[in-house]
Amino acid sequence: MLPEEVLRNAQAALWDLDGSGVGILEHSHRSKEFLRVLERTERLVREVGGIDDSYAVLFVTAGATHHFAMVPGSFLGAGDTADYCHTGVWSAKAIEEAKRCGAVHVACTGDPAFTATPSTFQWSAAPRYVHYTSNETIYGTEWQTPPPAPAPLVCDASSDIFSRPLVLANHALIYAGAQKNLGPSGISLVIAKRDFIERGRADLPPLAQYRTYAKEQSMHNTPNTFGVYIIGEVCAWILAQGGLPAMGERNARKAKLLYDFLDSSKVWRGHAEPASRSLMNVTFRGTKELEEALLARAEQRGLANLRGHRSVGGLRASIYNAFPEDGVHRLVQLLDDVERGRP
Ligand SMILES: Cc1ncc(COP(=O)(O)O)c(C=O)c1O
Repeated sequence: MLPEEVLRNAQAALWDLDGSGVGILEHSHRSKEFLRVLERTERLVREVGGIDDSYAVLFVTAGATHHFAMVPGSFLGAGDTADYCHTGVWSAKAIEEAKRCGAVHVACTGDPAFTATPSTFQWSAAPRYVHYTSNETIYGTEWQTPPPAPAPLVCDASSDIFSRPLVLANHALIYAGAQKNLGPSGISLVIAKRDFIERGRADLPPLAQYRTYAKEQSMHNTPNTFGVYIIGEVCAWILAQGGLPAMGERNARKAKLLYDFLDSSKVWRGHAEPASRSLMNVTFRGTKELEEALLARAEQRGLANLRGHRSVGGLRASIYNAFPEDGVHRLVQLLDDVERGRP
C-alpha cells in the first residue's frame, strides 16, 4: 500500500505538477520542474534517513534483483571473496548472482526452514564486503541488528527500508527496490559510501557502475521520473508521521498485535522465532482448511494478498509502513472469527 495522501497528491500531479500546467509524466527529465523534484526527493531521503554527504543517494531504474548482480560486478574482483549471510529466498538469489562474478563464502545461514536469522558466523579471512538481507520478505524474519561483520556491510533492504530508524554504521551500500515502503516498482534507492563507490570497477558499462549514478546525480540517462517523484512524496509523508522513530514505533505496535494474537491462538501459529520476527511480513499457518476459509473471507473484509509466497505456502500478512493499524485489528478479528467458527 501507499499512503492515501501520497496517492491523492500524485493524482493531482499527474495533471499539473506544482502549478506548472504540465503533469509529472509529461515533464522532460531535464526540465527545471523535474530537477526540483529530484533535488527535493534526495533532500527528503537524506532527512528521513539521517544520511550525511559521505553517502551518495542514488535512484536506479531497476528492481533490487539488478543489484544482486551489480554489487558483485562492481566490487568482487579477481582474488576477492565476498561473504554472504543466507537467510532465505532473496539471499539465495543474491548468492547465485554473486557466484557468477567471483568467490562467495556463505558465512552464516538460518535453520533449514529459515525461522530465524543466524547467530553464529564463520567469516572468510578478508571479505571484500558482507552482504545480508535485512528483512526476508517470504519467510518473515528480520535482523534485529545488522550482522557483526568484519568488513563493510552491503544490505538488501527492499522490504524494510525506512520502517524503523536507519542504521548506517558499518554499511558501505544499502539498496532497496521501491515497491514495498517507498513507491512504485521499477526503481530502487541506493545509499552508498562515496569512497566505497570509488573503489568499484571502472571498466564496466556506465550504467553497471554506481560511480556513474553518483557523478551524474542519477541522470546519466532518463530516470524513472514518476518513481523519483513518488519516493519524495512518501518521504514527506514519513516526516509528517514523525519520521523513522515514529514509523518504528507504529510498525512495532502493528506487528505486536498480530504476533500476540498468534501466540495466544490454538490453531494459528507463527513461522518465525520470536527473536527474529519481521515487523513487515508476518508469516503464519493454520490447517489447510482454516487457511482456505480465511482466504475465502478476507477479501469481503477488505483484506487482500494474504496467501503466502508460492514457494513456501501458508499465509503472510504484509503490513508495510502505509498499512493502517485498523487493518491489523480487522485481520486479528477475522483470524479469531475463523478460529472460533463465527460467521
Ligand atoms: C528482500 C527482497 N529483495 C529483492 C527483491 C526483488 O525485487 P525486484 O523484484 O524489485 O527485483 C524482493 C522483492 O520482493 C525482496 O523482497
